[in-house]
Amino acid sequence: MNDPLISDTESLQQADAGGGEVSLDQFKKEPIQLDKGCVLELWHPVNLPWFRPNQVTRTVADPVVIRPGDVVFEIGAGIGSMTLLFLQKFPGLKHLYSVEVVPQQADAARLNIREHGFREQATVFEGSLFSPLEGRANVIVGDCSGMTAIGRELEWYPPEPEDIGGIPLGGADGTEVTLPFLEQSQRHLMPGGTVYFPVIPNFSDGDKILQAAREIYGAAQVEPAAEARKIPLTQRQLEIIDQSEIKTFRPIERNSTGTRGRWVCEVWKATHNDRT
Ligand SMILES: C[S@@+](CC[C@H](N)C(=O)[O-])C[C@H]1O[C@@H](n2cnc3c(N)ncnc32)[C@H](O)[C@@H]1O
Repeated sequence: MNDPLISDTESLQQADAGGGEVSLDQFKKEPIQLDKGCVLELWHPVNLPWFRPNQVTRTVADPVVIRPGDVVFEIGAGIGSMTLLFLQKFPGLKHLYSVEVVPQQADAARLNIREHGFREQATVFEGSLFSPLEGRANVIVGDCSGMTAIGRELEWYPPEPEDIGGIPLGGADGTEVTLPFLEQSQRHLMPGGTVYFPVIPNFSDGDKILQAAREIYGAAQVEPAAEARKIPLTQRQLEIIDQSEIKTFRPIERNSTGTRGRWVCEVWKATHNDRT
């Protein structure tokens, strides 16, 4: 059957994804540990800022379900680590279209996809949110900077200021990328499809994000995709948070001596039920 939504999307595969040949001397390859027992050999830029994949990458990727034949849109590819997790875990997916706003990261993601042998199954676009994408996907995953600049103070994001090409964050309340992502996602999701997105309630206004998701998709369609994960903080990180002028949206859970803490990473999903 000729499905116009699918063929729209497939035409992207032929389009110029914005990636010319890159010079390998601007990139370096090294093993990067995402989580316990999960290490990926990844290219990354050497002289320009890049986001280092970590346990949050794995936390966001884990609950995502992709069925054979699904078209997937991923927003916020970074250097392509989550892209690779999906391609490895779901070999039957039809095609994965990934978007990254920072050019050197989009180049690294393309290198990583090629290096791991998935060139035919994945396309990386440089651009913001859904702007390079046409058509609709069965699954959309948005892992695009959902926290305040505390992420930079904690060194989860590289320190360079944005005016020389840093990695963007989520603004004063951590929602500035996630809200437009959610608004635009509905137009790009197949009826019956699912959008997945992380919520970081300590370091972003999680209530505002979930309220927006419920308004867009309907309250009954929005639910946790997995149990929230609590991620440890060192004493030094707690000090940085305490001394920062940047607001914390939910108090950090701490041990009795206050020397260790845990921040929360939630993954939510919304289903597109509109069949019109
Ligand atoms: C938390 S990092 C996650 C990267 C990757 N998913 C990973 O786990 O390694 C967020 C990524 O979203 C990207 N990003 C931020 N705003 C974006 C936008 N408007 N469109 C596309 N990507 C964006 C950032 O450049 C960054 O690479």
